[in-house]
Amino acid sequence: MSDAAPPRWSRRTLAAQAMGCIDPVTKAIVPPIHVATTYIRDEDNAYRSGFVYGRPDNATVREAEEVLAMLEGGPAALLFGSGMAAATAVFQALDPGDHVVASKVMYWALRNWLTGEATRWGLSVSLAETDDLDALRRAIEPGRTKLVWIETPSNPLWTVTDIAAAAEIAHAAGARLAVDSTTASPIHTQPLSLGADIVMHAATKVLNGHSDVVAGALVTASEDDVWARITAIRRQQGAILGPFEAYLLLRGMRTLPLRVAAQSASALALAGRLDGHPAVAAALYPGLPRHPGHAVAARQMRDGFGYMLSIRVAGGEQTAIATAARVGLWKRATSLGGVESLIEHRASIEGPGSPCPPDLLRLSVGIEDPDDLYADLDAALRAAAR
Ligand SMILES: Cc1ncc(COP(=O)(O)O)c(C=O)c1O
Repeated sequence: MSDAAPPRWSRRTLAAQAMGCIDPVTKAIVPPIHVATTYIRDEDNAYRSGFVYGRPDNATVREAEEVLAMLEGGPAALLFGSGMAAATAVFQALDPGDHVVASKVMYWALRNWLTGEATRWGLSVSLAETDDLDALRRAIEPGRTKLVWIETPSNPLWTVTDIAAAAEIAHAAGARLAVDSTTASPIHTQPLSLGADIVMHAATKVLNGHSDVVAGALVTASEDDVWARITAIRRQQGAILGPFEAYLLLRGMRTLPLRVAAQSASALALAGRLDGHPAVAAALYPGLPRHPGHAVAARQMRDGFGYMLSIRVAGGEQTAIATAARVGLWKRATSLGGVESLIEHRASIEGPGSPCPPDLLRLSVGIEDPDDLYADLDAALRAAAR
């Protein structure tokens, strides 16, 4: 027996084995899916298993939460029935009258919820271009601002907010920083290590990676009073992820590091080829040196710049729509992060009032051969431009 300390396995190794989840009864290397909604109480009236009922907690959900907490480097994670359920739980943990600053360029449905529903509940919401730190500072209302919410890189322009600087600004004002890190993924960025208090993921996207689960996740930097409130909100509102979805997510996360590496490498290659394409007015991707957020992205993202990019089509809105109509390999669909590549005319879904330019096509890059993806898009761009 060696006295050496046990090895500290890498995140990739731990993810591949789902943290070594072995079923204690059968020794199966794939853990069972726990579907029970209720649990036997001990004869002395205790609940020693730690499980009482299916709405607060579930063993399969816990297994997936442990893997995600490990990937993000936080002490605890919570899984929800969707990304929106996870995000809105953070805002619902605030008090009426509290002020929130959120990125102007962000996932449109959450922006709509914030400016609509959340204000009806008594939250005061300011939208700011958080990639501009002075704009973020100006938006803060000292004493009233309790939460700064950023998305980076943010939908669908892939603007980049400096997480460490935003954390400093938020904390100096007595507010917390929450980061929607869906498009960075824990492989490229670990916001908690940069000072964020909460990380949110639409686990529907690259965490699961196979376009067959709707799920959301939060990971905390500390198990404090706000985390306790968020946990109570999930329990009381019944917003927990279902066990089948948790199992699929657990399976998806085993290959997350490999998928993200391949998808981000392809996105970088595609962005480089599309930037300068005669039918493309601009390629928006934080990995391109002339992207305004490149320097910050290079600092806070490692091993790649993500699997999402956008192009602005030179011929304008109708040519953009015509391009999306002509692809064969890319799938014309909303969402992102799956193994299959998706293309979307984004303004059509975001509607009026969105900062999304009408000539923009959003591309979610999958694991297909990047040369095939380029050839298909190049042909569609050229045909639509004719
Ligand atoms: C960046 C981002 N955040 C949050 C969400 C919401 O996630 P869900 O659709 O799982 O509710 C999405 C969905 O597209 C997203 O892209």
